[in-house]
Amino acid sequence: MKILVDGGHRLSGRVRVDGAKNAVLPILAASLLAEEPVTLRGVPALDDVLTIGGVLQGIGLDLEIDPGGNLRINPGTSRLQPTAPDDLVRRMRASFLILGPLLARLGEVRIALPGGCAIGSRPIDLHLKGLEALGAKLEHQHGCIRMQARGLVGTRIYLDFPSVGATENILMAAVLASGTTFIENAAEEPEVVDLANFLVALGARVHGAGSKVIRVDGVRRLKGTSYTVIPDRIEAGTFLIAGAITGGDVWVTNALPEHLKPTMAKLREAGCEVWEEEEGGVRVRAKGRPRSLDIKTLPYPGFPTDMQAQMMALCTLAEGTSIITETVFENRFMHVDELKRMGAQIQIQGHSAVVRGVPALYSASVTATDLRAGAALVLAGLAAEGRTEVGGLHHLDRGYVDLEGKLRALGAHIQRREEWHSPSAVPDLVGSPQ
Ligand code: UD1
Repeated sequence: MKILVDGGHRLSGRVRVDGAKNAVLPILAASLLAEEPVTLRGVPALDDVLTIGGVLQGIGLDLEIDPGGNLRINPGTSRLQPTAPDDLVRRMRASFLILGPLLARLGEVRIALPGGCAIGSRPIDLHLKGLEALGAKLEHQHGCIRMQARGLVGTRIYLDFPSVGATENILMAAVLASGTTFIENAAEEPEVVDLANFLVALGARVHGAGSKVIRVDGVRRLKGTSYTVIPDRIEAGTFLIAGAITGGDVWVTNALPEHLKPTMAKLREAGCEVWEEEEGGVRVRAKGRPRSLDIKTLPYPGFPTDMQAQMMALCTLAEGTSIITETVFENRFMHVDELKRMGAQIQIQGHSAVVRGVPALYSASVTATDLRAGAALVLAGLAAEGRTEVGGLHHLDRGYVDLEGKLRALGAHIQRREEWHSPSAVPDLVGSPQ
């Protein structure tokens, strides 16, 4: 499968973002903690959601889509078991989010160690240290880890780095621990706040989520709830850049401006008009060629690493030279070589990319190396001259629901097609908006 984009079409109109992938994954893991049914609304139909759903089913939860399209999770302690299915855990790092809740609920968990991935080695030391501080015992067993606890006990945990996943794992374990836990230097991402709000809806006592210190007063058991997941700020940011890079006018509905501040600020700096619509959502209107930007990725509320590749796509076409510095992941410049195939002028210097803006990109056959790299290539294709082919779509499908359908509705000439060998079989995308 490939995505084919005929570039050069100005995008305009409204597009609605789905629920946030990075919120729904920990929330699904946290539903292991509930002793009564949970109903989740706004769950995006993504491959990563299916993967964690498979992990939860493997552990013993029943998952079903109700007639309203909501996800219903029916827990039952009698059937829960502590070993996560290896193949699914290896497929997606975020499966590791079951560690904290399973440990809290069953007192035991056995899970394969996550491997590295394209964007860096991504250790899990902070997750493990935090859970050990709550009283869990850790054993390494042939590429797997086993953690056991005869009752977790609240304590003070300082994270060397405000890791999103470690904050979430520790938070999920702490809600059923006895006594009070403080997570210091905690991640402040909106997805951490959404997880905390979900836990509170289950009956947990969590304070301070969204600040550097989270306080958790342990409770004995958690009930069920109905909960709506927050909108995806990274999907929203991607559509705002789609508007900016095509000289367009795009209104992203269901987006929360308070979660999009760094992206909105950079788009303004690039010369776009960006504003919060009275009826909700965020709108971008591009004015001429973008201006160059200096960007440094940082933990929230800094500029998100998950928007770095997409913003780089915009900078390739800017007037002037942009400097993009990646501080969160060690190797998150895999998209650079692919953007260069399209005529971008980029040099890597240590943790920074120096992007000399060019007046135009040209089409090429490129491959997504990770999820957001894939989004960046599609964005570059929207602006490039001619037809760009983007492969590696399994990455893209982990994090975007029907990206090409939503872009088509904004006026993009984009299709997903099986790969073919004969050029005569290539359809004309122009005038085929469906
Ligand atoms: C989450 C997001 C991902 C986003 C990232 C940073 C999910 C499912 N994924 O990933 O989209 O890019 O936050 O915003 O929510 N680290 C350690 N030791 C640890 C844990 C992390 O050194 O135990 C390091 C990592 O290698 C990385 C940095 O901390 O360099 C940030 O990682 P972290 O915040 O944990 O990201 P994830 O939770 O994996």
